[in-house]
Amino acid sequence: MNRTTVQDAVTKCPPGEELTLAGWVRTVRASKGGFSFLALNDGSCLANIQIVADGKLSNYDAIAKLPTGSSVVVRGQLVASQGKGQRVEVQAGQIDIVGLADAEKFPIQQKHHSMEFLRTVAHLRGRTNTFGAVWRIRSAVSWAIHEFFQKNGFVYTHTPIITASDCEGAGELFRVSTLDLLNLPRDEKGGLDFDKDFFARATYLTVSGQLEAETLACALGKVYTFGPTFRAENSNTPRHLAEFWMVEPEVAFNDLRDNADLAEAFLKHIFRHVLEHCRADMEFFNERIDNTVIATLEGIVASDFERLTYTQAMEILTKADKTWEFPPAWGRDLQTEHERFLTEQTFKKPVIVTDYPSTIKPFYMRLSDDGKTVAAMDVLVPKIGEIIGGSQREERLDVLERRMRQSNLDPANYWWYVDLRRYGSVPHAGFGLGLERTVQFVTGMANIRDVIPFPRTPRLAEF
Ligand code: 4AD
Ligand code: MG
Repeated sequence: MNRTTVQDAVTKCPPGEELTLAGWVRTVRASKGGFSFLALNDGSCLANIQIVADGKLSNYDAIAKLPTGSSVVVRGQLVASQGKGQRVEVQAGQIDIVGLADAEKFPIQQKHHSMEFLRTVAHLRGRTNTFGAVWRIRSAVSWAIHEFFQKNGFVYTHTPIITASDCEGAGELFRVSTLDLLNLPRDEKGGLDFDKDFFARATYLTVSGQLEAETLACALGKVYTFGPTFRAENSNTPRHLAEFWMVEPEVAFNDLRDNADLAEAFLKHIFRHVLEHCRADMEFFNERIDNTVIATLEGIVASDFERLTYTQAMEILTKADKTWEFPPAWGRDLQTEHERFLTEQTFKKPVIVTDYPSTIKPFYMRLSDDGKTVAAMDVLVPKIGEIIGGSQREERLDVLERRMRQSNLDPANYWWYVDLRRYGSVPHAGFGLGLERTVQFVTGMANIRDVIPFPRTPRLAEF
């Protein structure tokens, strides 16, 4: 259908233009003079456009009592508006009702709804101001991600969703199988006979595309992969999903410092893009959700991230005058409360923590000369904590094989990954950015379930 978006109508089109608009009615207000005002939203922007429906329209009676949520096509003329807070409105020549909404049952009425309630009607929550804005920001962030890498000479690659490897070595894998759960085939020893399964081996949904991305980086130089990843971890927090989107760049010949530089430039690009291109939606979040988001993003793009080692971070945390749920100590992983303390109290900005103990990080991270730490890097931001995890990779064959055995992984099962270290091995580094945590940070939305259209969490796979 050839139609003008509300976004174009309210920002660009000159008064006088004849246009066709289509969308969903938010409110109808009958006026004394025998006409009605419709607030029409089509999802293209936060703003509604005001439609003036004249009493002379043939279906005026039906228009004047249109229930919220009904869909219409409006043909008319854009005119300068007398009303407050709007440049233009539409003088309708014709309004066709496309689909009536059931007035009694439509769950998204024009009143305050809690986020918890809106999660139960996730298929309709995009019709609210908040979720319309979140989905548009999510799109803009995704676009900015591609733009950054494409402009900087990265090749967009696709890594598999179904895999036999456990990149993070944490065992948080969803199984992929076509075996009959009620009648499982057994091998001679009584174990599961995976030879009878679809792939003739145990397979899973990927937790990360990194291992495959490393092989592609060692052919193409600079690559990124951007897709869904899956973690069967039983975490019920405002920052964890069982299915989330991750963007993972991988660069041959980069070391840990290059990796940190890339992460910082990349995040700044995303934030700058959103500030420049999503002004109305960002003002909405700043007004309604978190009145610090715009100033925070502006501050971040204009200053340098703090960088320190894990050991330095531990010194700060152990000296801090604070009672912790998880007392910090060298050798223990940083918890969200520690990450938030560093970013919100100590430095008041994003922080890149490097050189974590090898014992708390996966096998693929490059072992440092001290034998105790690895060339790891986490980027932490206020409120969210970890937004990026990455490292320089172990490029030495013998060290990698040793580290794999220590992590109870059989190098033979990862022969192709290990092979990279046999044929022109090079230092290389990369990281993973969680898309949902990024959208949370940008919008100020408190719960990660509210920045992905259909969240998957323990005991929840509705829609
Ligand atoms: O730190 P993670 O586990 O790193 C990796 O998977 C590496 N293989 C990435 C790489 O180096 N190529 O995850 C990376 C990021 C985290 O910093 C976080 O933003 C996000 O992915 N993330 C999650 N987001 C939502 N729900 C979860 N359960 C997440 N787990 C990780
Ligand atoms: Mg991590």
